[in-house]
Amino acid sequence: MVLGDLLKEAIRHLKDNKVEDPSYEAGLLLSHVLGRDPGYVYAHPEEEVSNETAGQYRSLVERRGRHEPFAYITGECGFLDMTLFVNRHVLIPREETELLAQSALWALGKTPRYFNRRIPRLPEKGAYRVLDVGTGSGCIAVSLARHCDYIHVDAVDISVEAIAVARKNAEKYGVESRIDFIVSDFLNDFAIKEKYDLIVSNPPYIPEKDIKTLPVSVKGYEPLTALAAGSDGLIFYRALAERARSLLFGQGMNIVECGFNQGREVKGIFSETGMETFILKDLAGIDRIVAAVSIGDGGFCSK
Ligand SMILES: C[S@@+](CC[C@H](N)C(=O)[O-])C[C@H]1O[C@@H](n2cnc3c(N)ncnc32)[C@H](O)[C@@H]1O
Repeated sequence: MVLGDLLKEAIRHLKDNKVEDPSYEAGLLLSHVLGRDPGYVYAHPEEEVSNETAGQYRSLVERRGRHEPFAYITGECGFLDMTLFVNRHVLIPREETELLAQSALWALGKTPRYFNRRIPRLPEKGAYRVLDVGTGSGCIAVSLARHCDYIHVDAVDISVEAIAVARKNAEKYGVESRIDFIVSDFLNDFAIKEKYDLIVSNPPYIPEKDIKTLPVSVKGYEPLTALAAGSDGLIFYRALAERARSLLFGQGMNIVECGFNQGREVKGIFSETGMETFILKDLAGIDRIVAAVSIGDGGFCSK
C-alpha cells in the first residue's frame, strides 16, 4: 500500500461518517502515525508503508469515524504555547479557555500577546497565591505557573485521574514544584482553607437537561463530571461566589469562564456578594469570562 492510496481510503471513510474536514484530518492522522509533518505525507504519495503501519492508521481512522475527538486519539492538544497530554479523564481544553488563562495572566501582571481586553489587575505584590478550581488537564494552572514564577497554584479537581494528567503536564513544563495538586470535591468538602489572591475556574456549566443535545464527540467521549452542573448549570458559580469571602484576600479576584448564554447571570451571582464585576467577550462576541473583584476596605464592600 502507498501513502496516497491509504490517504484516499481514509478520506472516503471519514466523509462517509460525516467527519468535518475529512481531507485535513486524514492527513493529520497519517502524519501522527508516521511521526512526520503533514507536508511530508502530501509530498510522498508513492511511498510504500508496511502492513503494520497501514493497520495502525486504519484503526485510528475508524476511531475518528466514530467521532472520537482527535485529541483523545493522538493523546495531545495545543493550549496557548503548550502541547498538553490529554486522555478521556479530562476535558479537551477549548479556545475559550485560552481567553480565561490570558485574563488570569493579565490580572497577575503579565500582558499576553494579542490580549486587548481590560479588567483590573491584582494589587502589586511580591508573590501571589492562586486557586484553580476544576483543573482537569491542568491547562490553566500550568500556563499560569509557567509564565509567572512569582505565584503558587493550588490545583483542585474531584477526579483522581484528572489530577494525574494535570501533574504530568506540570512535569512536562517543569512547574510541578509550584503547583499543589489536590483531589477534592469543591462543592461538598471544605478541604481548602487557605486564602488566595486569585481564584480561576472553568467549572462544569452545562445544565443536566442539555447534555443530550451535545454532539456525540462531546457527550460520548468527554467526562460527564467535566460537563454537567445541576439543573441550571450555575451551581459552581454560586459556590465560588459564596466562598469568595472566606477564600480570597482583600482585593482578590475571581475569574471564571461561563456558557454561551450565562454571562449576565454569572455576573449577577458575583455582584450580589458585593464584588465589582466585568464581562469579557470571546472571539465570537459571546460573553464568556466574568471577572469579579472584591472591593471596599477589607476587600469586600459591605452592602
Ligand atoms: C469544564 S472542566 C475544566 C477543565 C480544565 N480546567 C479546562 O479548562 O479545560 C471542569 C473540571 O471540574 C472538575 N470537577 C467537576 N466537579 C467538581 C467538583 N465538585 N469539585 C472539584 N472539581 C470538579 C471536573 O473533573 C473537570 O476536570
